[in-house]
Amino acid sequence: MQVAGIRSLGARVEMIEADEPRPLTGDEVLLEVRAAGVGNWDEIVRTGGWDTGAKPPMALGVEAAGTVRAAGQAVGEWTPGDAVMTHPVPLRDQGTWAPRLIAPAGLLARKPPSVSWEVAAAFPVPALTAEQVLGDALNIRAGEQLLIHGAGGVTGGLMVALGSLRGAQVIATVGPESRQRVSALGADQVVDYHDQEWPEQVRAITGRHGVAAAVNAARGGASSAMRAVADGGRLATITSDSPAQERGISVSSIYVRADGNQLRKLAQRLGDGQLEIPIAASYPLADAAQALIRATGGHAGGAIVLTL
Ligand SMILES: NC(=O)c1ccc[n+]([C@@H]2O[C@H](COP(=O)([O-])OP(=O)(O)OC[C@H]3O[C@@H](n4cnc5c(N)ncnc54)[C@H](OP(=O)(O)O)[C@@H]3O)[C@@H](O)[C@H]2O)c1
Repeated sequence: MQVAGIRSLGARVEMIEADEPRPLTGDEVLLEVRAAGVGNWDEIVRTGGWDTGAKPPMALGVEAAGTVRAAGQAVGEWTPGDAVMTHPVPLRDQGTWAPRLIAPAGLLARKPPSVSWEVAAAFPVPALTAEQVLGDALNIRAGEQLLIHGAGGVTGGLMVALGSLRGAQVIATVGPESRQRVSALGADQVVDYHDQEWPEQVRAITGRHGVAAAVNAARGGASSAMRAVADGGRLATITSDSPAQERGISVSSIYVRADGNQLRKLAQRLGDGQLEIPIAASYPLADAAQALIRATGGHAGGAIVLTL
């Protein structure tokens, strides 16, 4: 089969002839991929910064939506024809930028019928990241003041929605074009990050003491976000840029973890309309290299997907 991927770490993305998927083991399913997400994180895989379990030559891609084609002997929950989404890392075989994909059955979630293949494909990584940051790392509680720095992005937007659903008072940093959309997602206050003194504006909103908790979702933005956090508060960053500890603030650097149970709950919220993600563009598999360039540009204006 023709997949989009790399022949060696750091190589350009191109179409590669790969073997058809091997026979399934007991806990695996074979998916017919309908769409696959493309994110900045795929560039990290391409250049060797994230070991997803597969070795080049390989298809890239760590999230997808598609139809179950076959299921291993020990799989009870999924049957051929089911529409699902997944973040199947560590990869059992190839990445998701491929027509067919082997995934562990435990890492699938049902695609809500109202949700497009594109949205379902682009959802797993940012949604799991957002939930793991707000729930597992920061344990956000109702009534807390929560800063989301980089709320205009796909992952940042989901954090705004999930923070608001947890009952937090969400303060978001955005560019002018994202202001309205992020307010509609549930941000109580929005601040333009183009103003260098935006952390001071956030402090002013909080009566000068700073927010109880903050998430940084903007590349290189964690130290600015830290300035807006109260003494003894919590900061989590998802862009590998943890600042040095100061003022008793706890700092954590979070990397997405595959979790089928969490993805199923999040998928339900997507189906209910409590969560959403905008799709900026979809490309055919053969244009994966172009899609990746768009996704790594930092201002795609929504999620980038490959459709098959
Ligand atoms: N650690 C992990 O497991 C993990 C998981 C998911 C994502 N990430 C990383 O988290 C980052 C954000 O992900 P994403 O999916 O939200 O990316 P994205 O959708 O590409 O985010 C792009 C948006 O970020 C905003 N932005 C750009 N520069 C900014 C700045 N200096 N300050 C504040 N906002 C800025 C812009 O919003 P405006 O439109 O408002 O200007 C832009 O539209 C990426 O670097 C990604 O690789 C890490």
